[in-house]
Amino acid sequence: MAAEQIGPAASDAAWGASHHAGGTDGPVDIGEALRRSDVLAALDEIDRELVGLEQVKARIRDIAAFALVALLRHSAGLTGATPTLHMCFTGRPGTGKTTVALRMARVLKRLGYLSQGHLVVATRADLIGRYVGHTAPKTRDVLGKATGGVLFVDEAYHLYRPGNERDYGLEAIEMLLEAMENRRAELVVILAGYKEKMRGLFAGNPGLHSRIAYHIDFPDYTLAELTQIADLMLSQQMYRWDSEARSAFREYLRPLLCGPDFANGRTVRNAIDRIKLCQAWRLVRQGGRVGKQELMRIDAADIRQSRIREEQVGEQENLDRIPEKTT
Ligand SMILES: Nc1ncnc2c1ncn2[C@@H]1O[C@H](COP(=O)(O)OP(=O)(O)OP(=O)(O)O)[C@@H](O)[C@H]1O
Ligand SMILES: [Mg+2]
Repeated sequence: MAAEQIGPAASDAAWGASHHAGGTDGPVDIGEALRRSDVLAALDEIDRELVGLEQVKARIRDIAAFALVALLRHSAGLTGATPTLHMCFTGRPGTGKTTVALRMARVLKRLGYLSQGHLVVATRADLIGRYVGHTAPKTRDVLGKATGGVLFVDEAYHLYRPGNERDYGLEAIEMLLEAMENRRAELVVILAGYKEKMRGLFAGNPGLHSRIAYHIDFPDYTLAELTQIADLMLSQQMYRWDSEARSAFREYLRPLLCGPDFANGRTVRNAIDRIKLCQAWRLVRQGGRVGKQELMRIDAADIRQSRIREEQVGEQENLDRIPEKTT
């Protein structure tokens, strides 16, 4: 709460300058602002190209509407503190957090809220040094690179190591806090990570929690959604399932869902990469002339073959992990 009560941010003047505080009494044209920004096309693209995530998509629309109205209010001379758009994305691996952050950055750029709309992904290693005096320049450098766009701090809970007095994480957190407060108009910060671990970060750093305007949770995908993600990936890469391959893929995914290494969309992407490899091997073994349709076609045998390859790789990895005998 205290954070919200701090007076106008230093960057409010910059926001006012870049978005022209007209102060007219006439009406502002929301339809015209939507057309000019082309933000609806970006939101439609998100609807089309991201499977499921209904709640997340609804929040993106809310945030876009809020940013648009904030800009229109500003152009009508209704000045107030720059709105806070910093966010926290929680969810297990591969649930689409980075993908959505990228789309969010584009939406905010189209609205004119962010000048560049790029995404800078940073982890603990990018922000925190190992020696005295290293953390500040590292964090400053990352904040500089993210200016005009979104700074996405992946596995943000790693920034905070309670109980370790020699850790420089707090120094980086302080600098992030300062930027989140005073450079709101130039930079949107998204903190991402597992929900339970993020709770620890916020419990230890209440100032950080109070500066986050939106907490968005990314649920695990269902088997049907994962199969749709695979459909989308295949068609984007100009491949297609044959009549049996799609259900073979579902059966291939089903046991992976409860495995310890399961990573939602990332598991699908990796599986598709392996399946494409098996299709390529099949075609090369087959030889001869092949048509365009055949170059696109994935069959059930490619999927079975990819499972065998995966098991072999898994066995090899297990062998690699066996420690050498000491003599
Ligand atoms: N809803 C979705 N629709 C289509 N593809 C998706 C969806 N969610 C994730 N993917 C795809 O799954 C892969 C992993 O997604 P992404 O990297 O965004 O997940 P993440 O939550 O950031 O994962 P991590 O926590 O491991 O960093 C990407 O190739 C992405 O395109
Ligand atoms: Mg990610």
